[in-house]
Amino acid sequence: MTQTEPRQAYAERSLRGKLSYSGARFRGVAQELFPTSHALVPQISQIYELDLAFGEYQALSDEEVIHRGAYFRSVHDMPTHHFRICMETPNQVNASARQARKNFFAANVFAVGYATHGLFPYRGKFHPQMIKAVMNIMGIKPGQVVLDPMAGCGTTSIEAMIMGIDSIACELSPFACLMTRAKVGVLQMDCSDFPRLVKYADDIYQRFAPYEGRSAVQPPLIQSEDTKEGAIHLAKAFPKLSPPMRELLLLCYLDAVGYAARRKGKTPRDLFPDLLSRYLAAVHAFNETREELRMRLGQAEIIEGDARRLKLPNESVDGVLFSPPYSFAIDYLENDRPQLQYLGVEIESLRQNMVGLTGTGRTKQELIEARVVHYFADMEAIMKECKRVLKPGRYCVIVVGSNTNQTGGVSLENGLIKMGGEIGMPLDFQIMREIEGIRNTMRDEFLLFFRKPESESIGAAGKEDK
Ligand SMILES: C[S@@+](CC[C@H](N)C(=O)[O-])C[C@H]1O[C@@H](n2cnc3c(N)ncnc32)[C@H](O)[C@@H]1O
Repeated sequence: MTQTEPRQAYAERSLRGKLSYSGARFRGVAQELFPTSHALVPQISQIYELDLAFGEYQALSDEEVIHRGAYFRSVHDMPTHHFRICMETPNQVNASARQARKNFFAANVFAVGYATHGLFPYRGKFHPQMIKAVMNIMGIKPGQVVLDPMAGCGTTSIEAMIMGIDSIACELSPFACLMTRAKVGVLQMDCSDFPRLVKYADDIYQRFAPYEGRSAVQPPLIQSEDTKEGAIHLAKAFPKLSPPMRELLLLCYLDAVGYAARRKGKTPRDLFPDLLSRYLAAVHAFNETREELRMRLGQAEIIEGDARRLKLPNESVDGVLFSPPYSFAIDYLENDRPQLQYLGVEIESLRQNMVGLTGTGRTKQELIEARVVHYFADMEAIMKECKRVLKPGRYCVIVVGSNTNQTGGVSLENGLIKMGGEIGMPLDFQIMREIEGIRNTMRDEFLLFFRKPESESIGAAGKEDK
């Protein structure tokens, strides 16, 4: 296939001269924790990473570390799948946008941008490598099911699939659902058509462009046969492509529109061809590695819906893992307004159900107080639902940023820990990490491991049977 970037160049360039984790003291701790058979991935520099690596080392056999480990480079000199996938990921999809972003990705080759995680820059998404390790520590195995009730752009599902774990992604925003469907759908893909798609990039762009500039409340952009007049019909526009491939093209188009709005003197049409070839290069690289490693992917189900009312049976999942909106810090609907408008979504009615965005007040102080109250009421409903659908003895892990500046001094993590105790799903343990991403408003992030008691079976009867 024709690619703009030579394969592997990105990871190799980023790692030049840095093939060991930093600092003699840090190395000493790692030597105490792990036998010489287990080599850590490069670029580990934080204590929480050692914490997670140690958790994986305790939870997994050597063979499991090779197939599913997140923080190991090799076991008995056999490279892990994680290491292979990351090393073969080409340049980040929009790593060229800003120097700070380039530097961030270069310093985090093994942490953030591999497989399809780098497609479309969704704010506030999980650290994928960390999520892989968390699932290992939760004891979720291939063939079992993990639920992410606030799935965003699908990080949990992508990682679960790569690990052979089945997943359910629930998410309120139709645009985030589109991202998730596209990103997981192309993990198993025949890429032989890609050179032709790159060649006809401008033609593909032209099929999307007439629908730009739609105001909200128009016929939704849907894929099914019953599409209404005025909406693009993806299946008719691209009859020969598979549904995930059609949605990947749409995602790339929406990415070009957003990217052009941030770049001076560039139109979406200027940016689309290069972006498309980067998208396809990332998908191609992952699929090639998947085939080489004979990976068996898990299945992913994506549900557009409200986490406060999960349409799932009691005790049907083996683990729950999610991060609620970084309430007050990111307005996802404002962030995604151009994309939601293009899709014909009624933004204001969506807002009514968006956790972290409801609550009003006449003054700033009143607004913050109302939002905190709503946030905790919503989170209580969500945690109860998580407990209901979780099998006894299994973990519900919530990743939450510490954010007292924007909550009037209220600690979200402490509130959630208290709530876990009150609803009968107490905190088992927690891990704290410092956040060092781009444009972060938070300093620390807490990984809260709640556990449903073994003794608390409520029976696996019907859906939403509370
Ligand atoms: C912090 S983001 C999750 C990011 C995700 N972990 C990822 O890696 O992409 C929180 C998500 O919760 C979604 N959300 C907000 N209210 C919701 C609700 N009531 N039900 C389901 N999802 C909701 C938002 O749309 C947003 O995508």
